[in-house]
Amino acid sequence: MGSIIDGKAVSEKVRAEIKQGVSELFAAKGLRPGLAVVLVGEDPASQIYVRNKTKACEDVGIAGFQHSLPADTKAEDLIALVRKLNEDPQVHGILVQLPLPPALKGLDIATYIDPRKDVDGLHPLNIGNLVTGREGFRSCTPFGAMKLLESIGFELQGKHAVVVGRSNIVGKPMGMMLLEKNATVTYCHSRTPDLAAEVRRGDVVVAAVGVPELVKGSWLKPGAVVIDVGINRKADKKIVGDVEFASALQQAAYVTPVPGGVGPMTIAMLLWNTLSAARRFSESR
Ligand code: GUN
Repeated sequence: MGSIIDGKAVSEKVRAEIKQGVSELFAAKGLRPGLAVVLVGEDPASQIYVRNKTKACEDVGIAGFQHSLPADTKAEDLIALVRKLNEDPQVHGILVQLPLPPALKGLDIATYIDPRKDVDGLHPLNIGNLVTGREGFRSCTPFGAMKLLESIGFELQGKHAVVVGRSNIVGKPMGMMLLEKNATVTYCHSRTPDLAAEVRRGDVVVAAVGVPELVKGSWLKPGAVVIDVGINRKADKKIVGDVEFASALQQAAYVTPVPGGVGPMTIAMLLWNTLSAARRFSESR
């Protein structure tokens, strides 16, 4: 029987550190970090995420600026808002909640955000910085997953890590962060022929595909560490991850729960990146 990694507890520790950092920055430079969160449309899940992000800011002393735009917002108006936020000295981090409404699907909004304010780590420059081992903002969800591995003292060097999913926001950067820590990384996706066989090779398995309970406990190497990034709502309204939790716990050494695993860490790392952005801004003045 494995152990549960308590993402809420780890995130609270990280937030306490951030709160301390925010008050130190204010004491030293009179600067309060600010995060602008932009929501376009009325997607109910996105509304909850955005509210949680703004509230989390307040809890650690970061100023949260929420901008809610209607679903029929034109691309040029969204770009104009991002450009205004790029110039706003009170704003150190900018996040445009994804997904954008269908009419704006073709707009690659991350490319308009000043890379120095791209606390989501989605601007091509920050992705390039990650891939080439340079300093820059790391995408919050995989960054949070790395913190969870660190919290159990897991040594990645020489281990095999299997990432299921290849999204730009989680899967791809996740593999790069694992590689940066000298793991041997396998990416799996919808065209991978024998997913179970690939997952079985993993000392660490990160599931980020958005398919409810896709990864079964019987697929896992005994003693594996499982990081479940999925948040899926089943027909009975129950929230489940991309991993079958009960069977995974039988086989693995550690499993992250859903909810209460990776989710709280994503927000904590967003705050972390915002504090880093504000620190860099204060040093550049
Ligand atoms: N939608 C779901 N997760 C995220 C995230 O980390 N950043 C943004 N911008 N949108 C999201």
